[in-house]
Amino acid sequence: MAEDEVGTVVSTLEGPTTIAFSFVILSSKVRKGQFVKVPSPSGFVLASVTEITRANRYFERAESVAEYERNLPLSQSFPTGEWEYSVANARVHGVFEGENIARSTFPVAPGSKVVIAEDALLKKFLLLDDNGLNLGHLQHHSLPAKISMGRLLQKHLAILAMSGSGKSYFTSVLIEELLDRKASDGRMAVVVLDSHGEYVGFKSTQYSKSTNVVGAKKFRIAFRKITPQMLAEWAPEMSSTQMRELAPIMEALRKESKEKHEAYTLEDLIARVETEMADKKKDNVKRPLLAWLSELRSLRLFGATDVPKLEEVISPGMLTVFDLSEIDHAKKKQLIVSYLCRRLFKLRKKEKIPPFALVVEEAHNYAPEKAEKRHALAKGPITTIAREGRKFGACLCLISQRPVQLATTALAQCNTNIILRITNPFDIDHVGESCEGIDKAMLDSITTLRVGEALFVGEAVGSPVFVKIRKRKTTFSAKGKDLELIARKFEEDNAKKKEDVEAFL
Ligand SMILES: Nc1ncnc2c1ncn2[C@@H]1O[C@H](COP(=O)(O)OP(=O)(O)OP(=O)(O)O)[C@@H](O)[C@H]1O
Ligand SMILES: [Mg+2]
Repeated sequence: MAEDEVGTVVSTLEGPTTIAFSFVILSSKVRKGQFVKVPSPSGFVLASVTEITRANRYFERAESVAEYERNLPLSQSFPTGEWEYSVANARVHGVFEGENIARSTFPVAPGSKVVIAEDALLKKFLLLDDNGLNLGHLQHHSLPAKISMGRLLQKHLAILAMSGSGKSYFTSVLIEELLDRKASDGRMAVVVLDSHGEYVGFKSTQYSKSTNVVGAKKFRIAFRKITPQMLAEWAPEMSSTQMRELAPIMEALRKESKEKHEAYTLEDLIARVETEMADKKKDNVKRPLLAWLSELRSLRLFGATDVPKLEEVISPGMLTVFDLSEIDHAKKKQLIVSYLCRRLFKLRKKEKIPPFALVVEEAHNYAPEKAEKRHALAKGPITTIAREGRKFGACLCLISQRPVQLATTALAQCNTNIILRITNPFDIDHVGESCEGIDKAMLDSITTLRVGEALFVGEAVGSPVFVKIRKRKTTFSAKGKDLELIARKFEEDNAKKKEDVEAFL
């Protein structure tokens, strides 16, 4: 047997066919998910191992095994070890004819020798790129998973997995790679809508100079940039009559402020509604309008100018983290996300900011598939970027632990899916339906993935492939994640307060 041979193709009831074959394993090197190749008349067939079965004639009949083993282990009476064999099932990806890969149109021959596919071949087949983002390595091969940035982020990306399986960890690895890129290779800006403060720690690492953290409490929206249409979207509970009354008042304020070169605020609008609708007959419209505008004011979100000015913080090779973990008010979070998505896309269309990757953690909360409009205020702007963003270099990275609840319109636009461990059957089915090129065996494998193992599917890779995500270069834990640390800090703070009080007395 040649050194690199790992098996021989066998004839079974099901094959070999043009799409699958089985081979008897002759080397302990073969593993599920590994890529192998088999010579064919026009070149060779590239395939990957989908499952492995072990068999032994001596142990086929439960009754006999039980009977024999009552006295002595079967292996001591018979040469059982010599009869053991393993069979691998392989899925065909295509035929390499010289440099080109073609669809397989004729099965491999039974008896053909199977060898492990070499790295150079896989690199070509999986469209890996030496200048790409180094996200880990291919499972069971030593090949680094260097994925082309263009292929990964030209369109959109979805990172799907159950809680705790490594979505945020993977995203941090991706961010490190994007921040490490040389300007000559083309750099994007990275913007993170960080629901749980998981990326704030970048500020205390070697990337501190390339990181801006925007605390949501400091964040302000310039009220003059809000159009009546945006307000109507944010207030689905208001009637069209109410919003119709508001539009001319806003328009008048806008004109005046332009003439005076002075921004108008939410307070100005509230005062103007009071005076313009002083007529008692308008009370029915005025009261709910004022109640709603006051509720908006209580969010402390609107001001005269944007804080920060997005054009100033979003730049190539820079990470901007919007820390939403400080906000408890769900509606405020929705409004921030809605405004940011809309504004970022607008600025990008005008080329005022560089191409960007917008990471949306907990995307199912902001772009839910099924939810009342008032709980999905950011769904419109997110789906707009999903539909139109790629033409302008506006890329979404949607992260979700509940793919079923994520808007299908947005998910369907994600040309690459990175799937880590998922066990919920509804989510698995949903992933199967929304990702092209994923088969039943792969879906089954998703349930058994370990933390940090991922299936890459879609445009970024030539064919679905399992990747072991690399270790992070940075070490920081998510804000508020380390329980021991929080507990210690709580006690220390309390002790300090007590000391201060005693010192004061
Ligand atoms: N590739 C990896 N290598 C080493 N450790 C990892 C890897 N991926 C994840 N982990 C560890 O697993 C834990 C969970 O990871 P992470 O926080 O990224 O999960 P998550 O999917 O974002 O969860 P959640 O949905 O709760 O936000 C972390 O402690 C992280 O350090
Ligand atoms: Mg996370």
